[in-house]
Amino acid sequence: MKEAFHSMIELRRSVRRFRPEPVKSEVLAKLVDAARLCPSAANKQALIFIAVNDPELARKIFETQKFAAYLAGAGQPQPGEEPTAHILVAQDKNLAIAETVRDVGAAVQTILMGACAYGLGATCLRSFDRPRAAQILDLPEQYEPDSVIALGVPAEAPKVILMKDGDVKYWRDETGQHFVPKRAFKDVCFLNGCNKAWN
Ligand SMILES: Cc1cc2nc3c(=O)[nH]c(=O)nc-3n(C[C@H](O)[C@H](O)[C@H](O)COP(=O)(O)O)c2cc1C
Repeated sequence: MKEAFHSMIELRRSVRRFRPEPVKSEVLAKLVDAARLCPSAANKQALIFIAVNDPELARKIFETQKFAAYLAGAGQPQPGEEPTAHILVAQDKNLAIAETVRDVGAAVQTILMGACAYGLGATCLRSFDRPRAAQILDLPEQYEPDSVIALGVPAEAPKVILMKDGDVKYWRDETGQHFVPKRAFKDVCFLNGCNKAWN
């Protein structure tokens, strides 16, 4: 169990290039069901999850999305690499409170981890045209799109590297390998106070 957890944490990277295989509705149902059971501030459960795997709808949702801003266009999935499924996370305005945004974080991470467990790749996006996504999915006015997760069979395996000089920008080398800098453990993780070494 411990090993599986740590392997999945390492494996889970934002994947932005996909193979054309579809994602089964049964798998999407498992992912949204997991999200449904996540922690929720005041237990309001003010989120809904709309899964998409119909090819035409998936293409329309993809067209609302902006991938990998640091790569200035080069991070957008190229023809043949597009996500084949999506999960839109929307807030129910009749139930949501200020803290509901944190519920979104918990739900999104759960979906991302679940995607990993099912051998899928995924990226959470906040850069997308929300009104257009709402229109494509016939969302009633009551629901406010918050985030969307693009999913598919992965065609890349981004790698974590240690961040240098505080540079947060992910990058790709000449082979197209995607690298994600992360801050060092010693800089962000503390035990029994901020001024003590971890031991
Ligand atoms: C709230 C949030 C919004 C994000 N929005 C986008 C987005 O619009 N487009 C995108 O390509 N990636 C987006 N990402 C993915 C981040 O770029 C990614 O998590 C970061 O580069 C670290 O890489 P990792 O997920 O592989 O650890 C978002 C992530 C989060 C948590």
